[in-house]
Amino acid sequence: MKSGRLNELSITKPLSIGIIGGGQLGKMIALEAKRMALKVCILDPSRCCPASTVSDELIVADFKDERAIRNLASKSDVITYEIELANSEALIDLASKNRNFVNPSPETLRIIQDKYKQKSFLKENNLKVPTFALVNSEKQLFDLCEDYGFPVILKACQDSYDGRGNYSIRSKGDISKAFSHFIGEERQLMLEKFVKFRKEISIMVARNASGEITSFPVVENIHKDHILNLTIVPARVSDKVASKARKMAEQTLTALKGAGIFGIEMFVTDDNKVLINEIAPRPHNSGHYSIEACSISQFEQHLRAILDLPLSEPRLLCPAAAMLNVLGPENYVGPYAISGLRKLFSIPRLKLHIYGKKISKPRRKLGHITLMGDSVEETLLRVNMAKKTIKVHVLNEKDR
Ligand SMILES: Nc1ncnc2c1ncn2[C@@H]1O[C@H](COP(=O)(O)OP(=O)(O)O)[C@@H](O)[C@H]1O
Ligand SMILES: [Mg+2]
Repeated sequence: MKSGRLNELSITKPLSIGIIGGGQLGKMIALEAKRMALKVCILDPSRCCPASTVSDELIVADFKDERAIRNLASKSDVITYEIELANSEALIDLASKNRNFVNPSPETLRIIQDKYKQKSFLKENNLKVPTFALVNSEKQLFDLCEDYGFPVILKACQDSYDGRGNYSIRSKGDISKAFSHFIGEERQLMLEKFVKFRKEISIMVARNASGEITSFPVVENIHKDHILNLTIVPARVSDKVASKARKMAEQTLTALKGAGIFGIEMFVTDDNKVLINEIAPRPHNSGHYSIEACSISQFEQHLRAILDLPLSEPRLLCPAAAMLNVLGPENYVGPYAISGLRKLFSIPRLKLHIYGKKISKPRRKLGHITLMGDSVEETLLRVNMAKKTIKVHVLNEKDR
């Protein structure tokens, strides 16, 4: 970055943000950057990725392509990423020359992109996580299942997201099936005890390069088939649980290096224990509501954090809000349209975001809806109306 603390936006030579990944998170970071007339350069394997429509430059390459990452670096004052698949080794090399050039820090990315390393790191830092162990053989998996009891979850340690690397084992009969599901892959495996959680919650926390830390309200998440369906804010947990969660999230950030926004996913058990499930070193699906419902969005907070500007204490602007994901229908891969708009927009205090992905795939995140209300109950009534109204409309040959 240009030397000294940032205090001025140049219009003739705008500050340039390089983003690895041009999906919906890259798009929403870019939209915030463009609001302040910053320059945005995206690296993504797809020429028509969602962020391509709102950025200045696009480098079409794999997230792990070292030459492309160096090319991005030559065009950027600061580099960030929206996806854990970014090449942490190449980024470590870049960051060794300029400490604040890549944020969050690539060492942090290296820990987080491996679920086993991530959980071990949390445990070493005295943060509570579900019981877990590495799995090296089928025999060891049988032994661990015996020890943990059922159900358990077998997880791929690398390159897994949106539930795609998880396999639930409900009984002894599932063990061999689960192990062979991952056979032939290079990914390491780990086993986790199933947490009988009362609620899943998450919290967005940011730290800027100067070390200032602020967190967003605690939200409640409802997953379907391991993928986020609905976020409700504020989470329906006691103040004690909320402040415990906030403290754990801030402790996590103190332990990790680098600046940026982080999403911390947690489980709350029946006896109000809070366990960390995972960390995302980037904006997070459960923080999208902040665009409309908070005094600052997770995307602007992220930009402030990586540019080392003062962070803003986020405040909810309404008593309650919810975020409903718009997912691709099952059993269909192909072009689509979003239908039901007239009824959808007759619902008050609603915003629709469509990412612009060209192809729908089963449960692919195509967009989201934010709803605001005077209470959680009232907001949830409108979530149900929205759910019934909006449709991902599959296009047949003649509509395309
Ligand atoms: N140990 C566990 N106990 C209970 N549920 C779990 C556990 N691990 C994962 N899950 C469920 O699966 C979802 C996705 O798992 P997660 O590990 O967060 O994978 P991903 O990286 O795909 O988001 C979680 O949000 C939760 O609903
Ligand atoms: Mg997760």
